[in-house]
Amino acid sequence: MLMTTKPMFDLAYDGGFGIGAFNVNNMEIAQAVVEACAAEKSPVILQISKGARAYANIRFLRKIIDACVEEYPDVPIAIHCDHGDTVDLIRACIADGYTSVMIDGSHHPYEQNISLSAEAVKVSHDAGVVVEAELGMLGGIEEDVVGLDAAEYEKNVEQFLTDPQQAKDFVERTGIDSLAVAIGTSHGAFKFVHEAKLAFDRIEQIMKLCPGLPLVMHGSSSVPEEFVNLVNKYGGKMPNAKGVPEDQIADAVRKYGVCKVNIDTDLRLAMTAKIREVFSTKPEEFDPRKYLGPARDAIVVMVKRKLKMLNSAGKADQVAAHWKKLGQPMPNQYR
Ligand code: G3H
Ligand code: 13P
Ligand code: ZN
Repeated sequence: MLMTTKPMFDLAYDGGFGIGAFNVNNMEIAQAVVEACAAEKSPVILQISKGARAYANIRFLRKIIDACVEEYPDVPIAIHCDHGDTVDLIRACIADGYTSVMIDGSHHPYEQNISLSAEAVKVSHDAGVVVEAELGMLGGIEEDVVGLDAAEYEKNVEQFLTDPQQAKDFVERTGIDSLAVAIGTSHGAFKFVHEAKLAFDRIEQIMKLCPGLPLVMHGSSSVPEEFVNLVNKYGGKMPNAKGVPEDQIADAVRKYGVCKVNIDTDLRLAMTAKIREVFSTKPEEFDPRKYLGPARDAIVVMVKRKLKMLNSAGKADQVAAHWKKLGQPMPNQYR
C-alpha cells in the first residue's frame, strides 16, 4: 500500500520503533527488500538516489517499484528521493510518483540551506508530498566537500554535528516534515577509525527544542564483521571496515525520536559477499540467475535482521490503519 511517511512517523515517534529506508538500485534489491518486509509485516521506505535514477533509468525503476506495491498490497510503502540536491530534481521525483523527498542543502551556507529547503517544501506540500531536509555534516560523501579524511572528521566531529538551537530555527523557517541530523554517523563502509559512538546527547537536545519532530539517521549501516570477512575471504579488499553498532541504532529508535534509519551499504555488502562467494566457489557458473538469485536471498536475510533491530516487524497493519484514518489524499499523480 503506497503512502507518505506521515503515518509511519506518527506511530514511530513514540512507538519505540523506526522505519528502515533502504536504497533501491535494481530489480533484485527492490524485490528482496519488499519480500523481507512482507514476511516480517513491516512498513518500509524505498529510497532512490540521484545515482540510482541515472543507473537504472527511473522509467525502469518506477515500473519495478510499482510492481512491488502491487505484489505486496499489505506492506505500507513510501517512495522517497534520497539526497535530492535541487528543486528541479524534487519536481521530477514528484512527477515520477514519489510520496516523500529529501532536499539536502546541508553542504550550503545556513541561509541558503533554509531557502532551498523552504522552496522544496512549498513545491512538495502543494503536491501532497512530505519533505526531509538535513542540517549538520555527515562524514563519508559529505566530508569530501570540506576536504577532510575520515580520521580528521572523527577528531573534529563535534563541530560537524547538528546544532540543536539552529535545528529549531531551521524547522520553524522551512516547514519540513522530518530532519536528518548529524550525530556521528557517516556514509559508506568505513565509518569510524576509533570508537563507534553516536552522540545521543545531541539527539536529546534536539528533541527538547523540537518536540514531536521526526528525526532521520543517515549513514546507519552496521557493516557486520561476518560479511566484511566473507568479502575479504573471497577476493575483496575492505580492510578496517566499520559501521554503527546495531545496539546503538536499536536504542536510537526505541528511546529517542529517530523515526527513519537509512541503510544502503549493508545491502551492497550482502550482495557483494554472496556474488563473490559464488564466483570463487563455482568458477564454472555463468548463469546470472545463479549468482543474482543467491545475492537477492542474502539481501532478504539482511533486511529481516534490520527490521528486527528497528522493531518495525509486525507494525504494518497498525501503520496501514493509521494511514486510512488520516484520510489524506495521495500525492497528485495518484489522485
Ligand atoms: O547516501 C548515499 C546512498 O548510499 C546512495 O548512494 O549515491 O551511490 O546511490 P549513491
Ligand atoms: P549507509 O552508507 O550507512 O548505508 O547510509 C546510507 C544512507 O544514508 C543513504 O542516504
Ligand atoms: Zn544518506
